[in-house]
Amino acid sequence: MTPELTGVLGGGRMGVGIAHAFLLAGGTVRLAEVDAGTAEAARARVARAVEASAERGKLGAPVPDVLARLEATVGPDSLAGCDLVIEAVPEDPALKARVLGALSAALSPDATIATNTSSLSVGELANAIDRPERFLGLHFFNPVPASALVEIVTGERTAPGLADRAGDWVRALGKTPIVVRDSPGFASSRLGVALGLEAIRMVAEGVASPEDIDAAMTLGYKHPVGPLRLTDLVGLDVRLGIAEYLASTLGERFAPPALLREKVARGELGRKSGRGFYSWDDTP
Ligand SMILES: NC(=O)c1ccc[n+]([C@@H]2O[C@H](COP(=O)([O-])OP(=O)(O)OC[C@H]3O[C@@H](n4cnc5c(N)ncnc54)[C@H](O)[C@@H]3O)[C@@H](O)[C@H]2O)c1
Repeated sequence: MTPELTGVLGGGRMGVGIAHAFLLAGGTVRLAEVDAGTAEAARARVARAVEASAERGKLGAPVPDVLARLEATVGPDSLAGCDLVIEAVPEDPALKARVLGALSAALSPDATIATNTSSLSVGELANAIDRPERFLGLHFFNPVPASALVEIVTGERTAPGLADRAGDWVRALGKTPIVVRDSPGFASSRLGVALGLEAIRMVAEGVASPEDIDAAMTLGYKHPVGPLRLTDLVGLDVRLGIAEYLASTLGERFAPPALLREKVARGELGRKSGRGFYSWDDTP
């Protein structure tokens, strides 16, 4: 079962996907944004996603009934009364601390507060919250509807048992939870970046072509996408930023290879710039 009333703070790419996931699971969702116009735009994007689910036969109820369980509001205070709030504002530590502090003041003391941060320390973010035992990370992946995984990130002060409850919520969404102790890169980024960086070193050393390195993983290990193609999809600049962060926290083994820095400096950022380890010029 999902919580009775779930709040989502931030209706961008991830917040819209998370709201959609809870609606599809039968939950009631309040989606809060910075102002009324942005809130309405976010509500409209969730509505389109729900309609698309209906077209694919994935909705167990008529579209209007599902959308009747969605409300778009403004600001953290509007989420008072929610049993769970997932914060999905941009990855800015000061902004997150501010909105988490506001949520902590507005919500009932028993409400669970979660962050969708992809890289920040859950333990440090918990400093903004009064009763930090009710706080944890719920790391959804992009795009949310297509992703089967949610990382549950427990901080030192997260209450024992909260990860289990969160695991039930994640399973109610039809996704699989894994529980990870608060640590840089959690499990997914740490492993994904490690593989990606080694693949880049192999290109630099002339071990094999990008196509063949990717085929080693897709055909040899059944990965759905190879590490270099994935780097292109994520963005070389994004991967460089994560590698720098992991190198500073976990050690030199995550030091970005020179080839990655050079490509980013040349503006070869992957699919979004038309070129990375592959050429994307013909990709719509
Ligand atoms: N995009 C990804 O691939 C991805 C994947 C996993 C996790 N994340 C994490 O999810 C979080 C959100 O990422 P995103 O890609 O959805 O960002 P985004 O920029 O698409 O959306 C953020 C939204 O938050 C809103 N916002 C900003 N300040 C706010 C406030 N004070 N109150 C309410 N709303 C506010 C913005 O208007 C915007 O719509 C980040 O922490 C990011 O690291 C992103």
